[in-house]
Amino acid sequence: MYESILVLDFGGQYNQLIARRVREQNVYAEVLPYTTPIEKIKEKGYKGIIFTGGPNSVYDEKSPRYTADILSLGVPVLGICYGAQLISFMEQGKISSADNNSEYGHVKLKTTESKLFNDVPSEISCWMSHTDYISEVPNGYKVTATTGACPCAAMENQQKNIYAVQFHPEVTHTQYGTQMLKNFLFDVCGCTGDWVMTDFVQRSIEKYKQELGDSRVLCALSGGVDSSVAAVMLHKAIGKNLTCIFVDHGLLRKDEGDTVERVFKQQFDMNIIRVNVEDRFLSKLDGVSEPEKKRKIIGEEFIRVFEEESTKLGKMDYLVQGTIYPDVIESGVGDASVIKSHHNVGGLPEDIDFKGIIEPLRDLFKDEVRKAGIELGIPEKLVWRQPFPGPGLAIRIMGEITKDKLDILREADAIFREEIANAGLEKDISQYFAVLTNVKSVGVMGDARTYDYTVALRAVVTSDFMTAEWAKIPFEVLAIASNRITNEVKNVNRIVYDITTKPPATVEWE
Ligand code: XMP
Repeated sequence: MYESILVLDFGGQYNQLIARRVREQNVYAEVLPYTTPIEKIKEKGYKGIIFTGGPNSVYDEKSPRYTADILSLGVPVLGICYGAQLISFMEQGKISSADNNSEYGHVKLKTTESKLFNDVPSEISCWMSHTDYISEVPNGYKVTATTGACPCAAMENQQKNIYAVQFHPEVTHTQYGTQMLKNFLFDVCGCTGDWVMTDFVQRSIEKYKQELGDSRVLCALSGGVDSSVAAVMLHKAIGKNLTCIFVDHGLLRKDEGDTVERVFKQQFDMNIIRVNVEDRFLSKLDGVSEPEKKRKIIGEEFIRVFEEESTKLGKMDYLVQGTIYPDVIESGVGDASVIKSHHNVGGLPEDIDFKGIIEPLRDLFKDEVRKAGIELGIPEKLVWRQPFPGPGLAIRIMGEITKDKLDILREADAIFREEIANAGLEKDISQYFAVLTNVKSVGVMGDARTYDYTVALRAVVTSDFMTAEWAKIPFEVLAIASNRITNEVKNVNRIVYDITTKPPATVEWE
């Protein structure tokens, strides 16, 4: 077992970020909601606990709280923002509301001697976002940092190993924030940093080798990062006992199906069945223009194809899924409402009888999945692939889908992606693609009038896809993409660039 840190979630927007930051220091961290019983926390033997921030006020009856016994387990605690106020509250300090004086954004922080501030200068800029503040520190605690408006920006009880900061060390806007987290992990909690991806990959392969023996395992491979990494890991453990089904529904990007097949068949010599069912999907989608209906049809048809193919293979014992950690984190407070039905294609049949499901990436964040992919020898291009929605190009063609439209979009999209790559922007933009709008407009080509499609280019920068900024791509790059698409792709005479953030728009157009 790895040494681990608990991130106890009180509803803060940065809960996952905190866990990721801890893991970047090679220390395993997991997020659990504040409703987790203390017995469970004791059993797990954490090296340290971090209380997250949250939007509430501690004196509010409905606020998330936790039994003060957690502060007497002998396990070091770090409270952040709301978590800091909660520690003060639990220890009988006082919290006040600075209604007219809340701090938001960059604030100058003065630090004093503390383990938490080892190798941190005495004056830095930190990121604040609060109205309430600790106005009287509890007995046994001393103030270790202040700001202009905040008499206690950090406090600690060295004897009990309890630390609290009003600001957010986990966001990059806080200078030396990473150093502070490091100090907590290594100097306070005594972690050694045993969470290393090479080791995780090797241990997982070994574990599946032993556990699965001669079992037959099935995997739905989409070519996306998660299913690819999961599949290769299992392949290294059980070789040809793993069979991957790759459903090519004809809604993939240019050359994508061939690339996936080539990489996994040739490079890894994996057992892959590619099912080419473009016609079947196109006929199901014929005349359908409503986005959610398209999603539903594609999701259902995918399951049917998968079922049919797996039936041909005879009895399979296990099913591999590329579930990753953000999918399994239970939120502390409330859940984001569903805007689009994101049933991943890969939402798999319930009526095939498996002994169990294998989720080798269940504990990993996306950046860790990528690291694991590199460890496994998967090509960089695949590991750094941008997200691609399960329903594929069907939700990037406004309205009805036809083979002609798919071909137009594939060409335009390939050119746009190529130009982003040529400009070296691939890793700076989270997602970028072309959309075939349902708009035709008048243009002129040579001496002739044209009446052709408008292609929209979309590119966003985001860390979580819940909100997104449109990417500020240099005009020159857009100009080249626009020229090339109108010159090289038939039936397109106009290009527009989407400059809408999310919200109010979504990333995809449907
Ligand atoms: P939206 O459009 O909701 O997209 O802002 C956020 C992220 O989700 C992806 N997306 C999907 N992924 N099935 C998927 O597997 C879907 O139906 C679907 N719809 C959107 C989108 O590409 C973006 O990364």
